[in-house]
Amino acid sequence: MKDSKYYLKCVKCDHITPDFGTWFEQNQICPECGSKHSEVWYNSDYKELPYIIKGNPDSFWQYFYYLPLEKRENIISRHEGSVPVQQWWFLEDFVKDTYGLDITIYVYRNDMNGGTGTFKDVAAALGASILKEHDIKQYCVASTGNTATSFAKYLAIAGVNCSVFIPDNALKASEAMISSFGQRVFRVKGDYSKAKSLAAEYSKKYNILISSGNIDPIRVEAKKTMVFEWLRQIERMPDVYIQAISGGTGPIAIDKGIREIKSIYPDLKNPKFIMVQPDKCDPMVRAWEDAESKGFPEGFENNYPIIDNPKTEVPTLATGNPATYPIISKLVKDSEGTFLRMKEEKMLAIGKLIAFERKINIGPASAVCFGGFFEALKKGLIQNGQSVMINIGEGVRRAPDFVEQMIYTTKIVDSLDECEPHLLDDYRKQLWDDVLND
Ligand SMILES: Cc1ncc(COP(=O)(O)O)c(C=O)c1O
Ligand SMILES: [Zn+2]
Repeated sequence: MKDSKYYLKCVKCDHITPDFGTWFEQNQICPECGSKHSEVWYNSDYKELPYIIKGNPDSFWQYFYYLPLEKRENIISRHEGSVPVQQWWFLEDFVKDTYGLDITIYVYRNDMNGGTGTFKDVAAALGASILKEHDIKQYCVASTGNTATSFAKYLAIAGVNCSVFIPDNALKASEAMISSFGQRVFRVKGDYSKAKSLAAEYSKKYNILISSGNIDPIRVEAKKTMVFEWLRQIERMPDVYIQAISGGTGPIAIDKGIREIKSIYPDLKNPKFIMVQPDKCDPMVRAWEDAESKGFPEGFENNYPIIDNPKTEVPTLATGNPATYPIISKLVKDSEGTFLRMKEEKMLAIGKLIAFERKINIGPASAVCFGGFFEALKKGLIQNGQSVMINIGEGVRRAPDFVEQMIYTTKIVDSLDECEPHLLDDYRKQLWDDVLND
């Protein structure tokens, strides 16, 4: 074990699994205690990491030494995971003018990932590479849309057959993309929970490996590199981290990344995690509010509601059964963070405002994330002098319908009399009002 690059260690009982080949043979569970939750650790002292971090990466594969792949020749990549962290001054100015706070606002541009333009691309790139290394030819995944699309593409590049289970409300654009790569789509008549259970039965019946959800060590290892990327780009951890949450690999991976490099960066700590859900699918927020009102009693993390067939307009975030809440809520609590809901009816206004101010088109799940940012300000959760990282998880190419709804300057005309020039600034006030007014 000592000579190998990495090993997996069970979070519950410390059992060691030597590599992913063995992990897959074990059906991705600990043979000692049956837990699905193992973490990857590396036989490295991390002395090289600060030098690697100074580099100018083309993708997250810059961090190859800290990823569970033995051979570089197995790397599958489409320039994912080294996306820019941008400082958004227009939001900083707004916060200064409205709340009198000097804060730094960073936006993590996951919409610029080269694979499918979502923050799922790193996991799919690592997954495809690991499957290639272990000569695995069949895989399956249940997803609300983005993970499925990303895995479908990267696995197709690796020559791996991927069966994809999506719920009946998943976006047509996701289905079309998965299908266009030649991967099989099973559109399940039911919600995401049903898609997940059908995928699990399918995996058993045909003995096909299945992506094991938000604690899947493949997903966690890929996403932890965002910690390395922030050190590279802003040379610190932000004070506050905001993300739209469905299952929650983000906070799990940030926490893992920080623990992993403790020996070399002893002062790093988790940011305050602010996790956002839309009001039409908010089981984690409800659970949190209930626990908060009772003073977080012992075992609060095991108490959460299940919403059957959630009616949200954001299929990506339609996880009605928040099975990872016990893990996430603990991380959120320890970070002194919170769960927030945003009004789904504000999504479009937010998308339009950001397109106007920054000239980029964000997807609906990203609009939910910004909605959480505005809520956090209203609730006084961000303090003067703090830095905030807003994670844009997707651009709008994932949801063409969303951008179509952003048309607001069109005038239907018949003659020259009806045509006159406009001034960009005339739109600004209305766009802000639409976001901020209750
Ligand atoms: C754009 C976007 N934002 C947020 C999420 C939620 O991520 P997680 O399931 O890791 O909580 C997803 C998941 O599909 C997503 O695609
Ligand atoms: Zn175990």
